[in-house]
Amino acid sequence: MGSGILRGRILHCIDTPGADGAGVEYLEDGVLQFEDGVITLLADAREASAGGLQLGDVPHLGAGLIVPGFIDTHVHAPQLAILGSYGEQLMAWLERYTFPAEARFADPDYAAAAMDEFLGEMLRHGTTSALVFSTSHEDATEALFTAARARDLRLVAGKVLMDRNAPQGLLDTAASGEAASRRLIERWHGAGRLAYAVTPRFSITCSDEQLAAAGRLLRDYPGVYLQTHLAENPGEIAAVAELFPDAAHYLDTYDRHGLCGERSFFAHCVHLQPDELERLAATDSRVSLCPSSNMFLGSGLYDWAQLEREGVCISLGSDVGAGTSLSMLRTLGDAYRVCQLQEMSLPPMQGLYAVTLGNARALGVAERIGNLAVGSEADFLVLDPAGNPQVQRRLQDVSDIDEEWFVYMMLGDERLVASTWVAGREVVR
Ligand code: GUN
Ligand code: ZN
Repeated sequence: MGSGILRGRILHCIDTPGADGAGVEYLEDGVLQFEDGVITLLADAREASAGGLQLGDVPHLGAGLIVPGFIDTHVHAPQLAILGSYGEQLMAWLERYTFPAEARFADPDYAAAAMDEFLGEMLRHGTTSALVFSTSHEDATEALFTAARARDLRLVAGKVLMDRNAPQGLLDTAASGEAASRRLIERWHGAGRLAYAVTPRFSITCSDEQLAAAGRLLRDYPGVYLQTHLAENPGEIAAVAELFPDAAHYLDTYDRHGLCGERSFFAHCVHLQPDELERLAATDSRVSLCPSSNMFLGSGLYDWAQLEREGVCISLGSDVGAGTSLSMLRTLGDAYRVCQLQEMSLPPMQGLYAVTLGNARALGVAERIGNLAVGSEADFLVLDPAGNPQVQRRLQDVSDIDEEWFVYMMLGDERLVASTWVAGREVVR
């Protein structure tokens, strides 16, 4: 854990952004101080100086902008290798590209290198926390947690449970998947900043017995998360209906085993029935919207405004490798575009909120990450417009931080990330 002090422009959300700038704090000339990985001071530089703080030797970031580290609530660690694989919708894409790529993680050396590479790439793209799918291999998942612990990341991850409708090399059984999950939970849930997510892939690859086992795990280990997929693609939904003729709807295949709740994340939710919407809201379940993935796989357009109206807690994910970038700035750009097509606007500060404090609140960790409040863990980025000439050029014409952030949201990507800091240590430069 690191200590230090930086001076420069600082932007973060202290609450849900409202009209007239409420909920957002922007310091044109600020100082951020952190000790042993925790933020101890956030202040206007001149006020801090007048109060006696010595700023003479403090590095000034110039045009750089300090923001909280981005949070991604849906991403697949083993899928970096298949980004941008041509021509298929969900089910064929899984069979043709995804399952073969994940099968390679049976090799422990390959898995260890690939998991470490994934975390390095995530950080290079400015994401400091995420809710992550591993593969169905216990060893590969062990490797992911080991690499995350070595980097002191606040990460939630889990071994994929899948006991049918996939290649043999990826299948567990209801009993073996449950036992492996128990071992991983006991080793990693609560180790450092790590947490465990019970991870049934989706109802097509999980028998009813396996979904029941997932429910047992949630009951036996209060505090662990659940992550899965829901209502992403019409073909998928039809297959679920055939596999579970007695279920009321797709969500019911999870719900009847106790898999809904405030620590449960359902990715996509593009094609929901009214009953499913109602049940997601009633159980305080979380939805992870993944616009990049939805457009890439032709899954459809989510209805953010409707989810909000129904009182469903929304978060945002990259869904790499169906999403085509780990960058939450690119994800935001895609989120904005999908909202436009759905005749809803996504104002810039709501975009910032979504990938920082909003996602932290969805995960229930907003006391620790998501903004730069004193007492928070020092996970943050320095964004530098000089990394992207087109962004830099556009900034000549913006008049306030809202407009500037919108440029980052629409044109930005990992090239803007000048440095990434985790628990007060600079881990990417
Ligand atoms: N549904 C089940 N598995 C997956 C996956 O790996 N990616 C996406 N986008 N959807 C899924
Ligand atoms: Zn996914």
